[in-house]
Amino acid sequence: MTDNIVEKIQREHDAILSELDGLIEEAGSEQQQSRAEGFLRMERKLQTHMYAEERVFSPLLAGTLQERIEESLDDHNRIRRELREAFAARSLKPGWRAALAELKTLVRFHVENEEVLLNELGDGFSDADLEGMGRRFEAEKQNYLGALAELSHGSGEAV
Ligand SMILES: [Fe+2]
Ligand SMILES: [Fe+2]
Repeated sequence: MTDNIVEKIQREHDAILSELDGLIEEAGSEQQQSRAEGFLRMERKLQTHMYAEERVFSPLLAGTLQERIEESLDDHNRIRRELREAFAARSLKPGWRAALAELKTLVRFHVENEEVLLNELGDGFSDADLEGMGRRFEAEKQNYLGALAELSHGSGEAV
């Protein structure tokens, strides 16, 4: 499997969008439990992805990429807000599907914006740099997941 950050990110975009499609398809089901579980799985993937992008892209803040990166951050924050709203709507029948559809629109729009950033990255850096970034991207994802696991372990002990 490639370490190239551009290919890694594109693969994750495809995976997240298809998970969102699956959630929208199942939005009418009565299974509230699996509905929440599927959402939380997709949410974790998306939050981890955005966190790692922010950690890896921020050091590149310079010249032409700066504006793109700031736009990306705004998109991420919009997506995070919609994730909270969608989760809050999980027990409302019409609201749930609408919130998921809105989330998917935001994610698809962001993915299109990010393609421009990814192209600039691909053109501006050597293969070795892009592979180094890909490894840092994976390491940042592990940091995020590790921090989440620590948090849930901590709260488990507190109860
Ligand atoms: Fe992304
Ligand atoms: Fe992003």
